[in-house]
Formats: sequence, structure tokens, C-alpha cells
Amino acid sequence: MCGIVGFLGDNPEKILIDRLKKLEYRGYDSAGVAVKSQNKVNIFKSKGEIKNLENIIKTTENACLGIGHTRWATHGKPDEINAHPHLSSDGKWIVVHNGIIENYLTLKDKLVNDGYNFYSETDTEIIAKLLEYYSKSGSTLDAIKNTVNKLNGSFALCILHKDDNHLFFVKNRSPLYVAKNADNVMVASDVVCFKGFSEEYYNIPDGYYGFADSNNVKFFDKLGEVQLSTSELDLCEFESETTFKHFMLKEIYETAPSIKNILEHYSLKNNRKQFDKIDFSKIKKFKFVGCGTAYHACLVGSDMLEEKTNVECNAYVASEFRYSNPKIGEDTLVVLVSQSGETADTLAALELARQKGAYTVAIVNVEYSTLAKCADCYLPIKAGVEVGVASTKAYCAQLAVLYIFSQIIYEKMGLGSFNLDDLENLSKNFEYGNVTEFKLLADALKYNDRIFMIGRGVDYYSALEASLKIKETSYINSDTYYAGELKHGFLALIENDTYVIVFATDKKVLSKTISNAEEARARGAKLILLTCFDFKPHELDNFHYVIKVKNANGPLQSILNIVPWQIIAYYTSIFKGINPDKPRNLAKSVTVE
Ligand code: F6R
Repeated sequence: MCGIVGFLGDNPEKILIDRLKKLEYRGYDSAGVAVKSQNKVNIFKSKGEIKNLENIIKTTENACLGIGHTRWATHGKPDEINAHPHLSSDGKWIVVHNGIIENYLTLKDKLVNDGYNFYSETDTEIIAKLLEYYSKSGSTLDAIKNTVNKLNGSFALCILHKDDNHLFFVKNRSPLYVAKNADNVMVASDVVCFKGFSEEYYNIPDGYYGFADSNNVKFFDKLGEVQLSTSELDLCEFESETTFKHFMLKEIYETAPSIKNILEHYSLKNNRKQFDKIDFSKIKKFKFVGCGTAYHACLVGSDMLEEKTNVECNAYVASEFRYSNPKIGEDTLVVLVSQSGETADTLAALELARQKGAYTVAIVNVEYSTLAKCADCYLPIKAGVEVGVASTKAYCAQLAVLYIFSQIIYEKMGLGSFNLDDLENLSKNFEYGNVTEFKLLADALKYNDRIFMIGRGVDYYSALEASLKIKETSYINSDTYYAGELKHGFLALIENDTYVIVFATDKKVLSKTISNAEEARARGAKLILLTCFDFKPHELDNFHYVIKVKNANGPLQSILNIVPWQIIAYYTSIFKGINPDKPRNLAKSVTVE
């Protein structure tokens, strides 16, 4: 999604481009910068990659200030006109914006009535025009305050004014941070931008605005100036010995180190102490909420906990949760799972859970995120920065921490003692599998427009996640079904040589799943089996290919099931000439609903 950088200091062009590149992983379709000297502002915008922008930027003499933006289109197509920064009619106000202004059409109507013309389709342009409108009757800071008071929705803003050398910023329900070093100030929508710039940063609360000059950073809330304290910049990253061509592959191979990290973190008892504030005698149900891959982790986590505690557990897609009138209250613990901790729908679910008096637990990778900050309890997944748009190591780390969460609850409910033996075994014996074979499979799959994946119970959840990885990185339409549902409809889609991938790692339904796979084979399907069991040679004859994974003997099997498919998805995209780190139309952090 969109990214923001603001920089106060000499040669801002270079810093802005460098930091925008650090935000590239979030997904974007155009980019732009505004660079200011004492009396001049130059604006450069381009469609597509940052390097297009880099190619058109010209040096602004004596430049001392600048703002930059990567845009992921929400209002209006991705082109140079809609790209940020946006300008007021008098050209004095220059704005970049992340988020969505929900009442922009109403505001636009009013501004049009007042004689303002609009050149773009964006919601952001109204902010620049409103700033101009309010600056007619007040100071620069008053104009910002009055403008912000009119906006509904989510907005992180960086603002310049042609006749002012301050760097202004505003934050509401969209991430924004400020850092300074001895000479310069930087504002950014992601703290990754501060690496090498400062060791600490300010996490701006919602509803705050402020400005920076060369000596100072000042913050304001509705009542006036406020002092904020800094947080330490702590970007947990793994150094890889090998150089990987893509983040996706690098990150898949960071799964084992992530699990080690998790074990180290959670074997310390004080990391579980925060749960003392929850009155477990009251808890009658658990709701797990997330989006996409995180939702798939919720499905597994919900089953894990229900099996361990026998208490009612359910998983929900965050965008549905909010509007489904969920039956939650003081007897409910809502578990919110997210890599970024900034997913708008998941944050909305958190807000609803809090309003209804439920306890909330966040399971999150980005430790400084809104979700991590706002939930009652917070379990970090310790996977390190994940750059690839397709979540890989973070999914496995979420599963590992959901397993730990089930252990914590088991202990807190007085049902038994906390025990990480299964995770330790998995960590000791972790294998990524036979990559040569995965490459052969990827090569075979790349020619298909559609494939199918089936499974039962937790295997079905693995199939859902494997399908998502294949879809997003190689654009193959991979459909997932419960194995038992085959004959209730989708068997009609099976033709000669249709690939059906069968996940069969649950002993109690193994023979049933295999029979369902047979039904597809009898209609011409080519079966690919993923299993942790040994089959007799004649039984294996029915499968076009078999992926054998280790047997985790329990709920951690989902981790072992997915890694081969992450690797296969990676190579399928490579063989199709797609960049797996930046699938079309997708963004890493989905900060709009
Ligand atoms: C798919 C993927 C997405 C995210 C989803 C939620 O590979 O990464 O489906 O899982 O957008 O994002 P987070 O986990 O940041 O809340």
C-alpha cells in the first residue's frame, strides 16, 4: 500500500528516493516527490517503478526539504495525474497522503461550490484545497488543524508550504513515525526508513499533528502542544549467508531461524505474565480474526485451541467479522492475527472487540504496529522483517505462536502445564524438502490455467494457504475444496489431466481423503499427494507425484505441509517470468478497508 517519506535536511532528493525504495515492498503503482528550496518547490511524478521517478528527478539548488510518496491506487487509476504529491489551486500547499478520506465527496462538493477546480480523481486533492481554503483565515498551523477537523477516515499526511520551511505531518488511523538525528529530521510511514538514520523514533498517536524544523520536532493534540517520548529502533532481521534472488525465497528459508527465535523468546516465563490480567474463569469462547494468510493461520489456531481446551473456538475473516454482529462480550477472548499489525479490517475488528468488552490478544510480527500496541496482550511472532508480498515465514511463525498461545491458555485455564516439546522437536528436525523435485512440479504446474487442492480438517486449511500462494505468485486459478465435497459439485470441473493436489496428513481421515482423490482420478485427474505417511508401492501408482513431509504428530503439521508449497509457488512464478516479490495488484500491508 501507499508509503510516505518526508525529509528535512540537505539534498533531500537522494534520501527520498532511497527511502521510497525501502517502502517498495509494500506494493505501489506510481510514485512522486516534492523538493523545496528557500523559495521554490519542484514536483516530479511517474507511473510504475521508483526507478522511473529517479530518472526524471532534476536537482533543486539549495534544496532543504522534501516529501515523497509511493501510491497504491484507491481513488482513480494509477497515473501521473493521480500520483502524489497533490497541490492546492494556488500551488502553495503540497500534500502526500496514506489512507482514505471517507467524506471526500461531500467536502469536494463544498469546495467546488466555493469555486475550486480539481485536476485528479483522488481523495487527497481535497486536503490540499482545504488547506488553501483555511489558510485564508489563519496561520499555517491553524489551516492544518482546521483541515484535519473536517476529515473523516484514515490519514497519514506529510505537508509542505511554499513559503514556510517546516515539514508538517498529521496522523490518524494510518501509520506515521518521526525520527531525528543531530542534523536532520525524517517522517515515514514505516520505521524501516529510519535504518541507518537514527536509533530511535517517535510513534505518533492517532489524532496528533506537528511540524519539524532544523532544531525541533513539535507535536500537538486537540488541546495543544504535547511531549512524546521516543522508542528504540529494533528491526529484527536475519542475516542470510547465501544471496537469494528474491525476498520470497530468502524469507521461506528464514522459517527455521524464526522458529528458533520463537522458542527462545517464549521459553522465558515472564513473556507469558501479561495473561495474568485476563480473568480466565469468565472466558467461554475464543474468536480468531485475520485476513488472507493470517486468516488461514486463524483457522488452524482455532482448531488447535479447541482441541486442547474443549472451549468453543471460531475463526473469522476480519472484513466479515465487523459486520456480522458477532456475539462477543466479557466472556470472549478475541485473538487478532496479522503480520503487519496495520491491516485496516483487523484493526476494525480489534476496535469492535474492545467496544464490546471482550479481551483482546494480538499475534503480530511488526512489534511497533497499532495492533501490537492496542490489544490487551501481545504475542510477537519474531519472524523478522517480511518484505515479499506473499507471506511465507510469517505464516509459519504465526502457526508456531498460535500453538504457544494454545499452551498458554491450557495452563492459564488450569488444564495442564505449558509445554513446548512438540515445537522443539519440529525445530530440531526441520527440513525444507527436495527443491529439485519441487522445481519439476513447478515446471509442470506453470502450464495450467487452473488446478484444484483438496483436504479434510486441518489439511484443508493447508490446501487453502497453498492455493493462495500459487494464485498470488503465479496467477494460476487454484481452487480449494473439502475432499468430501468433491462429488457435491466440483467433480464437474475435472477433465483429463486436471491437476488435483491432495493434502492427506491426518490419520483419522486418511482413507476417506484418498477415496475422494480416487473419485477425481477416475475422471481423468492427475493427482499430486502431500502426505506424512508411508504408502505401499501399488497404492502410490495412482499418484502422479508424491511429496513426503515429516510427521509432526499433531497441530504443528500445518507448518510442515506448507513449506513445500511455498517453494513450489516461488518456482512456478519464476518459471512464468513473474516477480514473486511484487505480484500484480497486491500490496504488502493493506491499510484500507
Ligand atoms: C498473502 C498475504 C495476505 C496477508 C493479508 C493480511 O500471502 O500475505 O493475504 O496475509 O493481507 O495481512 P496481515 O497479516 O499484515 O494482517
